Amino acid sequence: MQKELSGKPISLAINKVSKSLIAEFELKPKMLLVQVGADPASSYYVQSIVNTAGKLGCAAELLSLDSDCSEQDLLQVIGKANLDPQIHGIMIQKPLPKRINDTSINLSINPAKDLDALHPVNLGKILMETDGFVPCTPLAVYYTMKYYGIEATGKKLVILGRSNVVGKPLANMMLWKKVNATVTVCHSRTANLAQICRDADILISAIGIANFVSEDMVKEKSILLDVGINEITDAEGNSIYVGDIDYNACYEKALAITPVPGGIGRITTSLLFLNLVKAAMMAADINKSVDEYIDIIFSENHKKL
Ligand SMILES: NC(=O)c1ccc[n+]([C@@H]2O[C@H](COP(=O)([O-])OP(=O)(O)OC[C@H]3O[C@@H](n4cnc5c(N)ncnc54)[C@H](OP(=O)(O)O)[C@@H]3O)[C@@H](O)[C@H]2O)c1
Repeated sequence: MQKELSGKPISLAINKVSKSLIAEFELKPKMLLVQVGADPASSYYVQSIVNTAGKLGCAAELLSLDSDCSEQDLLQVIGKANLDPQIHGIMIQKPLPKRINDTSINLSINPAKDLDALHPVNLGKILMETDGFVPCTPLAVYYTMKYYGIEATGKKLVILGRSNVVGKPLANMMLWKKVNATVTVCHSRTANLAQICRDADILISAIGIANFVSEDMVKEKSILLDVGINEITDAEGNSIYVGDIDYNACYEKALAITPVPGGIGRITTSLLFLNLVKAAMMAADINKSVDEYIDIIFSENHKKL
């Protein structure tokens, strides 16, 4: 296995498949992308979505709401998009301001247009190992493992972070019978966190603290998958993005490691569009499962591994 697990070949392969499905089925996939306020990590992600849409032949309508908009405003926007046949997918960029009830928003999204699997129907399908929408970031981790042939059966897999959008769905996916990892989830109240990390064959971090995982927290020859995207100021005063895992410090010790940027985040954006294509196909009564997409995307690459 190569040491740096770049997201680039995976994201290119996914984009290629999205484009060819759009052409094959003459789809016009359109998403409504809603951002409330201007959180830096969210803006970084939203901008990459808008840039990617045009390149893939999809439409992404960005609706930026003021940070002081009401929950009702947001519910109205979603309600309208739910009924609009021209809009196949809805993406609500998180985090939302604290006064907006996350659960009401998640519940208001039509599950058939729920691109980041925020609705309990889609989250429940993950638990049941039934096909539905899978949140893009955990799915990016899953696709990375598939692409690079990371075998998790019988391995100790530790996830840092238990958010509804990353840590919790990812933990359940890693328990899928087609993954078979032995999963531990850590959070801000976990005791002996460094010790738990040192025991991990596969360590996945999704906590949002720059360079939190240091060299002494990782096991020799472990696989490190970094979901974190954190903006920091470097020694020259420039704003840069780094992961939760201290890449330079952990590189030697790791068997393999994902970079930030250019790792999981890049795949996440491509998968958002694949989910949009899936939604557009579902609207046209063409249904394919997550694994069927994997077969289409990785069949050529598998031969090369
Ligand atoms: N790659 C991508 O495309 C992508 C997509 C989404 C998010 N992200 C990035 O992934 C990171 C996590 O995102 P998120 O939305 O899941 O964040 P979140 O909702 O803020 O959740 C963070 C999680 O980390 C835990 N945590 C915080 N400090 C900790 C500590 N010192 N020790 C152990 N656990 C700690 C929290 O524990 P508690 O539950 O106890 O509070 C929480 O479960 C962020 O950097 C975000 O920018 C990347």
